Amino acid sequence: MNSLPFYIVDVFAEEKYTGNQLAVFRHAQELSDETMQKIARETNFSETTFILSDAKRDGGYDVRIFTPGTEVPFAGHPTLGTAHALIEAAHNRDLKVILDFVPGHTSDQHPWFRESRSSRDNPRRDWYFWQDPAVDGGPPNNWLSRFDGKSGWTFDEHTGQYYLHSFLKEQPDLNWRNPDVRAAMLDVLRFWFDRGVDGFRIDVSYRVMKDPQFPDNPPNPDWHEGMDPSLRLLEKHNKNHPDVHHFNRWVRSVADEYDRRVLIGEINVALPNLVQHYGQGDELHLPFNFRLLREPWEPAAIRAMVEQYERLLPAGAWPNYVLGNHDIHRVATRVGPDQARVAMMLLLTLRGTPTMYYGDEIGMEDVPIPLDRVQDPWELFVPGMGLGRDPERTPMQWDDAPNAGFCPAGVTTWLPIAADYETVNVVTQQMQEDSMLRFTRRLIALRREHPALNMGAIKMLDAPEGILAYVREDETGRFLVVLNFTGEPQSWTLPVPEQAVQPLLSTHALTPAGLEAGVLALQPDEGLLLAYN
Ligand code: NOJ
Repeated sequence: MNSLPFYIVDVFAEEKYTGNQLAVFRHAQELSDETMQKIARETNFSETTFILSDAKRDGGYDVRIFTPGTEVPFAGHPTLGTAHALIEAAHNRDLKVILDFVPGHTSDQHPWFRESRSSRDNPRRDWYFWQDPAVDGGPPNNWLSRFDGKSGWTFDEHTGQYYLHSFLKEQPDLNWRNPDVRAAMLDVLRFWFDRGVDGFRIDVSYRVMKDPQFPDNPPNPDWHEGMDPSLRLLEKHNKNHPDVHHFNRWVRSVADEYDRRVLIGEINVALPNLVQHYGQGDELHLPFNFRLLREPWEPAAIRAMVEQYERLLPAGAWPNYVLGNHDIHRVATRVGPDQARVAMMLLLTLRGTPTMYYGDEIGMEDVPIPLDRVQDPWELFVPGMGLGRDPERTPMQWDDAPNAGFCPAGVTTWLPIAADYETVNVVTQQMQEDSMLRFTRRLIALRREHPALNMGAIKMLDAPEGILAYVREDETGRFLVVLNFTGEPQSWTLPVPEQAVQPLLSTHALTPAGLEAGVLALQPDEGLLLAYN
């Protein structure tokens, strides 16, 4: 395992957002190359990775076709040709391609589900979860659907049974206990591995196996009115069932048929449980660590989390940290724009593979979405609680042209463009030496240049309140990271001789001010990276 940065982007967004899907799609080959160029130009990350998706009811997580052919099956749907072009374009630029694999459910438009629902004795009936109604005619148990907090079972008039869906009713859950489902889905992985993809991000991998007895879930004692309605029960029997480790091993054994492929699992659990998903080196390579998205933005909390994680990681397991994704408010909004660079310095200097979300490298913030432009089903079902994910999914801001250069002027984009696009955009920031983009690139370059920053050990240091400090080191070098989590100036008498450290990079200035008489002076919201002999 190495520690190349992962960068999440929806490469088919251009087709999706223009609202002119068929016309644009004809140029898909050209477009994906163009998209690649833009991404490469913008990130300058030679090891960028991507996540792709089909798109419809749930931002692409309702897959109608796992293995496309050469024909365009639906407006806007990528063909195999598009995928080939993308993989080739990426690999020609030394970029890796990671696909999003959605094993837990399909679209209700998927041919498998159409067959499954056609009759009780259809050979594919058992590919999904079908159950008789309860005695009162209601759903077979109390499991809930994640987006509306209503029953996770939908009644099918035609066959008189309920089917299970952990998310939308248009996303029926697949039954991985059926060996034919398993074989078909594992073949989906092989299909893409054979075509050169470098790995998969596995969508909600810990939901794939459910308790086969379908017991009721217990109530959540911490739930109260005003909270996400789907959280009123603890998802004890339909999430993180012990049998998920079988699933992990099934997918891993397929990845192991190939060289140098990576499996990343989307798993939202506490660290002691998360690390079990590495197995004995025979499960997932990288169970996503989402703790940076959840911990209070305070040095003590982050330090405790990093130390706990480091302590718990099994031998040989490689850590990782996620700073943003398409399901959570943008980091610049969560921690505030002033702390966004501190957060980036943290992500890119921790020990572990960093995952950042497109646009975070230019400091994009959440965009307010007018009611009539809401797309996310979660916001539509449970409005006004901040659950909707549209604010963090707005188009990438490339330049100061209309529509932020994302698509031609005059096109109504799928979600609104941020109001700040004329200043917060890639082209503008490329020209500004002290921009967030240039800062992010410098951090990545330093990480590449110095193995200690990439693969070296990490040791947290005691520092004054408000400061998070740690050392990264190996036999080739030693670095000190000092992050001011507050909006106040801070000073710290370094626990090492002054002449031993040399400021390398600051969040604030091209030439970091640094040290006087052994005292490090930090400006409000400043992070410093120092070389340390
Ligand atoms: C997790 C994805 O990240 C999210 O965007 C999606 O809505 C759910 N899985 C359902 O597939």
